[in-house]
Order: sequence, then C-alpha cells, then structure tokens
Amino acid sequence: MSIDRVFVIGAGLMGHGIAQVSATAGKQVTLSDRTAELANKGRDRIAGNLARLVEKGKLDQSQAEAILGRVATAVGPDGAAGHDLVIEAVFEDEALKRETWVALTKAADPDAVFATNTSSISITGLATATDRPPRFIGLHFFSPVPVMQLIEIIRGLETDDDTYDACRAFAQDLGKIVIESKDMPGFLVNRMLGPFINEAVFALMESTGSAEDIDTGAKLGLNHPMGPLELADFVGNDVMLGVLDVLYRGFGDPKFRAAPLLRQMVTAGHLGRKTGRGFYRYDEKGNRLGR
Ligand code: CAA
Repeated sequence: MSIDRVFVIGAGLMGHGIAQVSATAGKQVTLSDRTAELANKGRDRIAGNLARLVEKGKLDQSQAEAILGRVATAVGPDGAAGHDLVIEAVFEDEALKRETWVALTKAADPDAVFATNTSSISITGLATATDRPPRFIGLHFFSPVPVMQLIEIIRGLETDDDTYDACRAFAQDLGKIVIESKDMPGFLVNRMLGPFINEAVFALMESTGSAEDIDTGAKLGLNHPMGPLELADFVGNDVMLGVLDVLYRGFGDPKFRAAPLLRQMVTAGHLGRKTGRGFYRYDEKGNRLGR
C-alpha cells in the first residue's frame, strides 16, 4: 500500500505543518478546516514558511511553487474521497475528534488509512468512531512540524500490520525518525513532557523561582532549546492541560494532577502565543514581549 494522496483536516499549528512536510515529500495534499477562510489561512502559512526557505537559499522559487501547487484546500470532511491517507489534526478534544471521524468515515474511500495526530487520547478509543479500527493509527507529529525530526507511531489494539507498515513508510518519506509507542495515556513523549511542564508550573505557583529563571534553568542547566514555561506557551497551555488531564484520568495516579495555576490560566484564556498571553506576553506575530 503506497500513500501518495493525503487529506489533512484541521489547518492550525499542526495541520498546516503536516500538510507542508507532506507536499514537500511530493505527496498531493488537501488541507481542510471548518471554513474556507481557515483552510486558506493554513495554506498561506505554508506559503510564508516556503518563502522564508527561499529567502535563506534553502529552496528554489520553482521548488517552493511546486510544493505549494501540491496543496489544495477544502471545507470540512467532504473532500476526503480520493485520498490514500486521512490525517486528523483538529483541536485536542475527544468529542470533537470523534464527531470528525464519524463524518470522515462517511466521506473517505472505504480503503483509506485513517491517522489521528492526537497528543494523548486513546487510539483504540478514537478508532471506534470509525468503521475501520484495523486501518486506524496514531501519527503524532511535533511542533514546529517542519523542524522536529520525530514522529511517534501508536498502534491501537486492532491496527493491522499493513496500516502500520504504510504509515511507517510514509513517515520515512517525510524524512522523519519514527518511534513506536503502545497505546497508553500520553504515549511516550507527552508522558515525559506533561509532568516536566507541570512541575515547572508548580514551582512558579509556589514562588520557588521566576518564570525567566525556571526557563533559563532548563535551557542552560539541561541544554533544552526552550524552557518548560516557554514551551507550554508555544504548544498551548490548553493542549498541555488536556495532556495532563488524560494522564491523570488514564493512570488514576495523583502524580499527574495538573497544577491549579495551569488550569486557571486556561480558564482565563491565557493559552500562550496563540492568544498573545500565557506565562509571557506576545505580539500578534508571536514574538515575545516579556511578562
Ligand atoms: N516553521 C518552520 N520552521 C521553523 C519554525 C516554524 N514554525 N520555527 C523555527 N523554524 C526553523 C527556523 O527557520 C530555523 O531554521 P534554520 O536553522 O534552517 O535557519 C530553525 O527552525 C531554528 O529557528 P530559529 O533560529 O528561529 O529559533 P530557535 O533556534 O530558537 O529554534 C525552535 C526554534 C526550533 C522552535 C526551538 O526553540 C525548539 O526546538 N524548541 C523546542 C520545540 C519542541 O520541544 N517542540 C515539541 C513540542 S511538544 C509537541 O509538539 C507535541 C505535543 O503533543 C504537545
């Protein structure tokens, strides 16, 4: 089974990046969202990223045009027919993801492979919203998708070998390194990242140190490219709270309880870069302004 045509639903931070790397690898891509405006915004972000690569001399103008020429847009799940692989990258909300998969099941070809980019929700569970648990899998990308080398592949209880092999080959076509995780809450990476970020928020909440010192500690003391609070703002505090809640419910272990400050920030709408305010403040382009 070869994957040449890819339908990506959800044109946000993850979805537009997944569409970009797929088109760069020569795949025909359709990028879809709830409205034409959102889908076009995702495609415009790809155009902007490609233009920067051209400026830096990493891509020819003609290559950039060819990549963008492979990205079509659509509204909702309706254009999913005619694609070998459907990747879902909508908000990290189980009810929304299930609803999206019910609609995609009706719209997509019967033999299409279904992959979710969920960062922590059960693959086995989401597969039950479709008619094809054997052809359903987790393909977890990392942000920024064009830069991060990893894809975490998660097989649900019923995922078959053909689906796994095709998705592994697809990830390799994108030039990514694959790790495999069992379908356990948070998989491998977010099971580590969730508690790390959460502990940083507890340290801030308890005034053990300032946000800047916590982040500088991780950057200079651990050689991380970003500190945990910066990273939470980058990924989205709502996404990180969702990950922690899945870990807490899934393992039933109090060590995963979310820091009350993180929950408060999400309640207040301080979601990070995307809302202009999180642990730090940002301008409309996402540049840091300070606290
Ligand atoms: N899209 C495309 N390329 C981007 C980019 C973006 N959004 N942001 C940065 N880049 C590229 C830059 O163009 C630059 O490329 P070159 O080196 O080829 O010139 C390179 O990345 C480095 O960027 P910068 O010099 O601007 O900035 P930086 O050195 O500070 O790096 C960073 C930025 C790559 C984001 C780096 O800070 C980093 O790696 N941070 C950690 C990211 C991380 O941990 N991601 C995982 C989050 S967890 C997740 O995604 C999973 C989940 O489920 C929650």
